[in-house]
Amino acid sequence: MRKKLVVGNWKMHGNRAANAALLGALKEAGPWTAEVAVCVPFPYLTETALALTGQQVLLGAQDCSSHEQGAYTGEVSSAMLSDLGCRFVIVGHSERRAYHHESDQLVADKAKAALAHGVTPIVCVGETLAEREAGQTEVVVKRQLAAVIHTLTHCIGEIVLAYEPVWAIGTGLTATPEQAQAVHAVLRKQLQAASQKADAMRILYGGSVKADNAAQLFAQPDIDGGLIGGASLKAADFAAICRAAM
Ligand code: 13P
Repeated sequence: MRKKLVVGNWKMHGNRAANAALLGALKEAGPWTAEVAVCVPFPYLTETALALTGQQVLLGAQDCSSHEQGAYTGEVSSAMLSDLGCRFVIVGHSERRAYHHESDQLVADKAKAALAHGVTPIVCVGETLAEREAGQTEVVVKRQLAAVIHTLTHCIGEIVLAYEPVWAIGTGLTATPEQAQAVHAVLRKQLQAASQKADAMRILYGGSVKADNAAQLFAQPDIDGGLIGGASLKAADFAAICRAAM
């Protein structure tokens, strides 16, 4: 039985006062039987770690460098994330693939760097609307995952995978539970061919998950929780999604 995982991706939102209010409200709303985490912007990691001390909610970041350390201005290493208490780091989010031209191989290298420091990478895959309409969904997500499998080899079982159809992110267009499950099943099969741990691995769905559609999505056999954008910024909504995963 896989324990459900709900992860809030704050993206580039928040400020110290708003974050404190949100984290305070989450503290009141718990506990949950699902695992819950928030992936916050780098500057707020330390303060969030402090706010989460003794709480159930786990800390995560939204990206990391593929490099170990060195002259890489502006980059943040996974060793630093580990040092700050991060349990998770999102890699390969479609916004980074699109706006920062991150390749499948770079995403895989970032996942490897994270694992090397005990930070669990949440590896995102997903197709654009044009790719879906061209019937390319499976080809795209399998190609994105294959790069990670090839790079991590026997460590692939340590990652969390997230299916985020690009057309569903921030658009209010959620994949139907059936559409999402179909892709999750394809991904699970690909993981099964690569790792004995595949059946214990969590595959999250992300893309316009809300309080009113979360339960149906999480009820699908291969959907093990969610990666939540907009709704993770409102404590009541995020808490309701966490409850839907219980
Ligand atoms: P929304 O929940 O705002 O659609 O964002 C999803 C996402 O990109 C999470 O990483």
